[in-house]
Amino acid sequence: MTKKRPKVIVTRRLPEAVETRMAELFDVTLNLDDTPFDRAMLAEAMATADVLVPTLTDDVDADLIANAGPNLKLIANFGNGVDHIDLAAARAKGIIVTNTPGVLTDDTADMAMALILAVPRRLAEGQRLLRSGDWKGWSPTMLLGHRIHGKRLGIVGMGRIGQAVARRARAFGLQIHYHNRRPVAEEIEQELEATYWDSLDQMLARMDIISVNCPHTPATYHLLSARRLRLLKPTAYIVNTARGEVIDENELARLIEAGAIAGAGLDVFEHEPAINPKLLASKRVVVLPHMGSATVEGRIDMGEKVIINIKTFFDGHAPPDRVHPAMF
Ligand code: DGY
Repeated sequence: MTKKRPKVIVTRRLPEAVETRMAELFDVTLNLDDTPFDRAMLAEAMATADVLVPTLTDDVDADLIANAGPNLKLIANFGNGVDHIDLAAARAKGIIVTNTPGVLTDDTADMAMALILAVPRRLAEGQRLLRSGDWKGWSPTMLLGHRIHGKRLGIVGMGRIGQAVARRARAFGLQIHYHNRRPVAEEIEQELEATYWDSLDQMLARMDIISVNCPHTPATYHLLSARRLRLLKPTAYIVNTARGEVIDENELARLIEAGAIAGAGLDVFEHEPAINPKLLASKRVVVLPHMGSATVEGRIDMGEKVIINIKTFFDGHAPPDRVHPAMF
């Protein structure tokens, strides 16, 4: 007798190769027109599915989880960050949550590095000038930025992505500093010639560029609070490719407008897709629409991870990418 295929509901459009493979393996409901699920649609999906495949645009909160149907045993998130899922509620209900770690490390670190270069070197301003038709040709004082070689980069969160940013930044001659819950292994510190700061406050006050690379958890919400942002040097830049909620966005916008912080490169925002209008208006801020991991290769790898997690679970084994409870 053939085994019943798990009923899998996917909330957003995924790369075609991933959707095709899912359709071969599972009784899958895809979202071909990519309309984000509203709350009622999520509730309905969670009432009927064996597996929900959400993304960061779905707020899978405690209420929805409490009211999930008896068949829902796995939430196989398409993405690394799981701050949109109430992990404690899922655990209490016996629902396993998995994510897609590792496969978006390099792409996200590349984007952080791109912003580390783009902001001090004023790339977006240069592009705007050219497109406006106002460029009168080269001049010695036109659009002068700041050199990054030799500057101090302070990485907040030295996990996989933080370390990948550090490796890239070293190649550009930046000095690596970091704050983390605990120091990384000595070999990694040595390889990166990285300096550990136990005190985030102390580090922030001394860096030229800050890169935020920690996950958003209750412990890191507004880790870069109004008070901490005010510790930064007025010549410092901030780059965030992690989650907007880690920074007090209103205060960041205010400090940049006031000239108390030199600029920012932001791929993520506190209330996506809304953005503080001051950030949008500032020429000292480079904004991107949460595209840090947006590569074809990365999205396919993420889909493969989701498929492996679902398949392993329904083959009766522990899925490899269970979200560790220590994350929250
Ligand atoms: C993730 O997976 O958490 C990323 O932010 C999505 O690109």
